[in-house]
Amino acid sequence: MALPPRFLDELRDKVPLSELIGKKVKLTRRGREFTGLCPFHHEKTPSFTINDDKGFYHCFGCGAHGDAIKYLMDGEKMPFMEAVEYLAGLAGVKVPEASPAQAAREKQQSNLTAIMEEACRFFQAQLFGAGGERGRNYLIRRGISGDIAKQFRLGYASSGSALTAHLQRKGLDMKACAALGLVARNSQSGQWHDYFYDRVMFPILDRRKRVIGFGGRMLEKGEPKYLNSPETVLFHKGEQLYALPNAIDTIRKKNEAILVEGYMDVIALHAAGFTNAVAPLGTALTENQIKILWQSCDEPLICFDGDGAGQKAAIRALNRALPILAPGKSLRFVALPDPFDPDDMIRKKSPEAFAQVVAEARPFATVLWETLLAAQPIDTPERLAKFEDLIQKTLESIQNQVVRNYYTKDFRDRLWRLTHRSKKAGNRSNRMNVPIHSPTPGLADARMLLAYLICYPTAATEFLEDMASFRLPDKILNDIFQHVVGYLLENPDAVETDWESVLNDEERRILAAEIEMLRRSDRQLPEATAILKRMILQSRIQSIQAEIAQKTENYLAAPSAELWEIIKALKKEIEKLSESE
Ligand code: UTP
Ligand code: MN
Repeated sequence: MALPPRFLDELRDKVPLSELIGKKVKLTRRGREFTGLCPFHHEKTPSFTINDDKGFYHCFGCGAHGDAIKYLMDGEKMPFMEAVEYLAGLAGVKVPEASPAQAAREKQQSNLTAIMEEACRFFQAQLFGAGGERGRNYLIRRGISGDIAKQFRLGYASSGSALTAHLQRKGLDMKACAALGLVARNSQSGQWHDYFYDRVMFPILDRRKRVIGFGGRMLEKGEPKYLNSPETVLFHKGEQLYALPNAIDTIRKKNEAILVEGYMDVIALHAAGFTNAVAPLGTALTENQIKILWQSCDEPLICFDGDGAGQKAAIRALNRALPILAPGKSLRFVALPDPFDPDDMIRKKSPEAFAQVVAEARPFATVLWETLLAAQPIDTPERLAKFEDLIQKTLESIQNQVVRNYYTKDFRDRLWRLTHRSKKAGNRSNRMNVPIHSPTPGLADARMLLAYLICYPTAATEFLEDMASFRLPDKILNDIFQHVVGYLLENPDAVETDWESVLNDEERRILAAEIEMLRRSDRQLPEATAILKRMILQSRIQSIQAEIAQKTENYLAAPSAELWEIIKALKKEIEKLSESE
């Protein structure tokens, strides 16, 4: 309704904002302002301030701000006109009359709402009436009690055109009923008939609990499983959430909402005590729906089905939310085991099992990171560079600059940790195939290498110079190694029996098992030489790979063309060594 602007100013002047908000929030005066705990987000120390002179509130914690009307619309979920009327009531003034056109439009809207209410009551009566047995049996089979059916105003649309007959009997305008998606007309016979046949009916209510649409579930297998009301003047799927009026109080109280895919999931969760569950209306989650949830809690939980489709839908939700992330406002993701949906989880496992997976919900940043990581291999420096590009482009879409900055920092850290961890864990990550190995052979390799040198002293002749620079990873083994290589360099014609006198008992004992094994294997010299050569080559490759890994890390931190060339050259060297193998 178009109101004279001066009228709104008058309302703001007559009702001090502190008085209005003071009804809900405990306020303390601080000079010309009041402070208190913010009603728009969860906090323990007050960052919410009100200035009566200016007629504005502002929260330094979550950024919420506005005037009296905005407070009533956002905080009390009142539609605009209701907020105006409420304020006028407090101020003791009368709201100016609406224009005739406006009044007519409002009258029409309320007529339409009345028709939807009539249909809802009719479906409810059908479910519990004589013809509702099929619907009742279905609900029993799904484990839905009569109380829950009443709480959610579930109904039944029978196979005939009973609703049409009922609406006609009531003398309602059939064209209006058709515009609401309740009935349709057969183009040949001109007869009106029902839109929903033989379905369990889930009414969809707006925040003021007015029926605005329906979802109807088939009783048997078939398509479509759920038939939803079409978009109408009352029903905008992208701007509503199923069961929001049932869930809103818990959502506010717990500062948590559970967003699931289906009507049945919502109902099963409410019945099991998770009364903060809501669902979109059979379409992908919209920006609008995310913002609606953010009005009442900070980090709604996305709890879609555990199957592939559910996971895809979760990623779509993630992409939808990414640009609009705001300070304190995010999503978290619950991973249900494949192929469970929340309803299955509650019934086939237990409410506790569901609570457990909810408790393990993962933060937005983690899921975004993993989604990006899963999109492509990052096993070469070039691919890593491309990955970093992708990260940057993705994060650029975050509109809020503060959030974007923190994401950039967080993702830079993750990139670091990724390369770092793989190094320590010996390349355990399956995606991170940057080869990172210890520059010296492992302990088992080192023992074997020593055993070869001892059993086949002449096999090593051509590599001895190379070997002198080796360091084995274990102090004792390394001492023996230096001792052995030193001896071989000085005594090129050494034979196996020399070791009797060169190595002491302790040294021989340490290598006894490997030496024994080699002796029994009875290898010929050429074969032993080939193996030894391979071991040395392998160890050189490993040490270059370690160097590449180190340089790649440096490159990621501070990319430079020079480093890039070095990395390329090292990779070439590895290729060359591998070929000679
Ligand atoms: P699901 O197929 O996952 O249904 O669709 P569900 O909730 O597990 O239902 P039950 O347990 O088989 O009864 C999830 C949601 O997608 C929409 C509905 O909103 C449904 O609740 N949907 C699904 C449709 O709108 N039409 C369909 O044909 C199927
Ligand atoms: Mn289901």
